[in-house]
Amino acid sequence: MLDQAETLRQMVKQRQIEEGLAIPSCKIITVTSGKGGVGKTNLTVNLAIAFSLINKRVLILDADLGQSNVNIVIGLIPPPRYNLSHVISGQKDITEILADGPCGVKVITGAVGVTKLSNISTRARNRFIENLSSLFDSFDLIIIDTSAGISPNVLSFILAANEVLLITTPEPTALTDAYGVIKAASSKKNDINIKLVVNRINNIMKGKQVADRIVGIASQFLNVKIENVGYLLDDPTVARAVREQEPFFLAYPRSKATNCIYHIRNKLINMPDNGTGHHGITEFFKRLFKESE
Ligand SMILES: Nc1ncnc2c1ncn2[C@@H]1O[C@H](COP(=O)(O)OP(=O)(O)OP(=O)(O)O)[C@@H](O)[C@H]1O
Ligand SMILES: [Mg+2]
Repeated sequence: MLDQAETLRQMVKQRQIEEGLAIPSCKIITVTSGKGGVGKTNLTVNLAIAFSLINKRVLILDADLGQSNVNIVIGLIPPPRYNLSHVISGQKDITEILADGPCGVKVITGAVGVTKLSNISTRARNRFIENLSSLFDSFDLIIIDTSAGISPNVLSFILAANEVLLITTPEPTALTDAYGVIKAASSKKNDINIKLVVNRINNIMKGKQVADRIVGIASQFLNVKIENVGYLLDDPTVARAVREQEPFFLAYPRSKATNCIYHIRNKLINMPDNGTGHHGITEFFKRLFKESE
């Protein structure tokens, strides 16, 4: 009886998807920065775990196509053998490359060897997108960790996401580069939804000063509204946890950094979506390839 009801539900859902009536529930957040080494991967991994603790089904997509390091920070030892490039080339199914991270978080490793999204043939793209539909219902949240800077690949991930988490430290070079990301992204999409995290601050006052400056400059010179979602205090447990290959959120649950992650998660939950909505995984990848052209 139950099986029959489930089959019926699936049929209705499939019909709704085909007719474009289904409301996809998956939200896609791209984590990015102007300058390298400012804390993207640590934010991605620890935030993902924080969301999984409130029963969100979370997938991390390690889109740092150069040097994927989510595996190290999240503690996937040995690193997964297969990555997105095997799905794109058709050798593997998307479900075969999902790795199990802590607390139910799943991880997909970036396509090592695929340097440019725009180099992927239309046939391979279509097969890839089709393959992704099997993931359609499996996640509530996908967090994408990118490499630093505004290469075409990174910009594609920024433009295709529902939401962008831009992380910076207070260093002048990091701030200038963060501004560069806002400028490049907003020139391509003027309603871009960028949220800011200031990392490695010594106190909240300093963090607020830095955030206010970026928000003010983006508004004044680019007419872009950036939202401040919080801070990460400079905390030696972050580097210690990286060395131990365990996310600091789990290794040091009472640390300052963990406390900051809780704040950022809660702030994100309570923020409105700014009308950009959730588009689902299939739609995301269609836009991703379109943006990379
Ligand atoms: N809040 C923090 N307190 C102390 N150290 C930190 C903090 N955040 C990051 N770090 C240090 O910075 C290093 C780099 O962090 P992470 O790998 O997350 O940066 P990234 O932006 O992903 O770098 P990349 O651009 O190379 O991908 C960490 O290994 C850690 O040593
Ligand atoms: Mg990184």
